[in-house]
Amino acid sequence: MKRIFSGMQPTGNLHLGNYLGALKNWVALQDSYECYYCVVDLHALTLPQDPEKLRAAVREVACAYIACGIDVSKSCLCVQSAIPAHTELSWILSTLTPLGWMNRMTQFKDKAGKDRDKQLLGLYSYPVLMAADILIYHADCVPVGEDQKQHVELTRDLALAFNSRYGETFPVPEPLIMGFAARVMSLRDGTKKMSKSDISDYARINLTDDADAIMLKIRKAKTDPEPLPDTIKALEKRPEAQNLVSIYASLADQSLETVLTQHAGAQFSTFKQELADLTIAKMEPLTARMRQLMSDPAEIDAILNAGSEKADALTQTYLQEVKRRVGLWL
Ligand code: TYM
Repeated sequence: MKRIFSGMQPTGNLHLGNYLGALKNWVALQDSYECYYCVVDLHALTLPQDPEKLRAAVREVACAYIACGIDVSKSCLCVQSAIPAHTELSWILSTLTPLGWMNRMTQFKDKAGKDRDKQLLGLYSYPVLMAADILIYHADCVPVGEDQKQHVELTRDLALAFNSRYGETFPVPEPLIMGFAARVMSLRDGTKKMSKSDISDYARINLTDDADAIMLKIRKAKTDPEPLPDTIKALEKRPEAQNLVSIYASLADQSLETVLTQHAGAQFSTFKQELADLTIAKMEPLTARMRQLMSDPAEIDAILNAGSEKADALTQTYLQEVKRRVGLWL
């Protein structure tokens, strides 16, 4: 069986973009791959975090994984900071990373804005840790949303760089970017990604939102005055319309064509009502399950500890091989 590694940061609320762009696909892949799904808490330190809240957020993300359908009897759920091999490999990879590769990372450029000198080294070097996350499992595939594609490409370059310097060690992983919702956009601006850090809560649907909140946010979502078209081409210059149609298609497991055929000519007020009903029907059971899981933190901790132990054992074997090849003390 081929192996998968993927992860989410425990920062802020998980949202519909995380679900449709990543989690929903992770669930679908469980039967055909050996899966490691990690809560990547070290990455969260690239922003200031309250220690107690960070630990609680790790549990919350793990609950979201399980509530959305990750089955712990099939997939391994683990926490990055409990598995030291991630950071050890990260240092070794950083010694193979030209600054030019890092300077190309668009996410850093977007986050840093004009004030680059005030940004922290961790935010800048974060993609190297992400590469280590993936490579230390010898993962073959990495299911992520579109925004992480460049980081997986850097991971591939680093695998090749290590292999050519020290001999064939790492498989070169493939990004798996699936479905129509690989890039879910903000509900307030169809040209911006739906994100945890958007100052407006109306820009996203959180996995913890109740039915009233979902209804209100979809009703208020930005659209244009035209009705729904009957072709995908006609959506091209209508980012908000395209986003809502893609969300619908992904939630309903239908093609974009089918959604457009069924709703062509409808006003957005009508379509939004149907989209809200569908979103509530799909999300409510997940939210309820998440709440139930959160009420038993000891159970979640036991799952995460067992998963992290398994991941630690696997990654230590690969780390020993890396240290041997590099000439480090064993
Ligand atoms: P993070 O925590 O920002 O997001 C987790 C996953 O959700 C996807 N995603 C989206 N997909 C579609 N539309 C959106 N608006 C949207 N927003 C987020 C992301 O693509 C991601 O798949 N660097 C990663 C975490 C990470 C990682 C890894 C992932 C660290 N190490 C190793 C894979 C493998 C991140 O910040 O994702």
